[in-house]
Amino acid sequence: MTPHDTQTLINKAKEVLALNDMGGWTRPDPGLYVHQWLWDSFFAAIGQRHYDIERAKTEVRSPFRAQWKNGMLPHIIFGDAKGYHAGPELWHCERSKDAPDNIQTSGVTQPPVAAEAVVRVGQKLSAEERRAWYREMYPKLLAYHQWFYRERNPRGDGLPVIVLSWETGMDNTPPWMHSMHRYAMSLRAQLIQQANFTSIMERFRKDTAAVPAEERISTIDLYAVYDLIKSLRKYKYDNETIMREHKLLIVDVTFSCILIRANVLLKEIADEIGEALPMDIEHAMHVAPHALETLWDTETQQYCNRNVSTGRLIKIPTVSTFMPLYAGVLPKERVKTLIRQMHDPKTFGTPFPIPSTPINSDYFRPNRYWQGPTWVNMNWMLADGLERNGEKKEAEQLRERTVDMIARGGMQEYFSPFDAEPAGAANFSWTAALLIDMLTD
Ligand code: DGY
Repeated sequence: MTPHDTQTLINKAKEVLALNDMGGWTRPDPGLYVHQWLWDSFFAAIGQRHYDIERAKTEVRSPFRAQWKNGMLPHIIFGDAKGYHAGPELWHCERSKDAPDNIQTSGVTQPPVAAEAVVRVGQKLSAEERRAWYREMYPKLLAYHQWFYRERNPRGDGLPVIVLSWETGMDNTPPWMHSMHRYAMSLRAQLIQQANFTSIMERFRKDTAAVPAEERISTIDLYAVYDLIKSLRKYKYDNETIMREHKLLIVDVTFSCILIRANVLLKEIADEIGEALPMDIEHAMHVAPHALETLWDTETQQYCNRNVSTGRLIKIPTVSTFMPLYAGVLPKERVKTLIRQMHDPKTFGTPFPIPSTPINSDYFRPNRYWQGPTWVNMNWMLADGLERNGEKKEAEQLRERTVDMIARGGMQEYFSPFDAEPAGAANFSWTAALLIDMLTD
């Protein structure tokens, strides 16, 4: 552990959040993600609640100003900044009857950590204030959660179907990139790849001005994602059509686990204000944990994403395999197995855990986005999950390693799991916010 002064770190983190404060919402960083991102805002609020509760409430409220008419919360809300590589002109959300009026957004969502942020903010309020806060937020949260079951759960098993890797927040995570290459490459993407045009296409990328290309999603993967967005746009973001026509439909472990946890938190909120959850949510809460178990692969001893079109598990290991710890309470034996894997020096047991992809994977690069680096938000959720699974010491250790990593590498987007070498965007809001949270609670 490098010696660090807790107060100095907290002050630096607050400076980052102030730098990214756009008024009523917080951008992820000053250079690359210059609009508002959904889960970034909720993580920002989890830090802000420790020193400015009103600001934290504003942050949590802010994504709901762009809530779609069908309940969806979009993953990006566009502000005035220019130059973002996947702006409103790519999405054309006005083609959907459900898009909000007078505000531009993307057409997909991101992991539903909204309920987590609502409850964390609630923890800092008096009982009376909290009930008022919950009464305000509950109907909006409920509309969001119900959207998943109405439009994204054709199998009725409580696990939502995800339509773009960007929805998972883990934009280039290997199982998604693998399935995209196998089943969902546009003609253009295939041509770029076959003709080896990637180095030419690289020049047209805008995102690599702010962050070195080798730390970002690869060029071919990015163009393939753009083309998937165009296909969603062609379907006018209508989920009935998407569930029928779209080439890439995946049940994602991390996303599922976050929604399962979010429903538990939604129930806490409902209970406190004397509301009864509607049947669809109650049903999902009942069936989803069983469905999650069907993502466990006994052969390779990991939780895997499922390709909905083929029905098969995608057996490519990532940090997602640990996320069921966050979803709920697992059988003791399973918890032990997962902890053993976390510490295995051949896979996830690095000096600065937990790498987003194990180090023995063909995909692994220590500094490439979701294909190796360690991410603070995953560690934050996993520490919370370890604790709720009775593994307090493991949770504390993981938080300590995470704080140490940030003390060495700075308020960065992600870090090398070997030496905490910083990568991705600098002055990154959720790193700062969750650091404040880990140092304060
Ligand atoms: C990006 O621009 O890379 C974003 O992560 C998309 O959400």
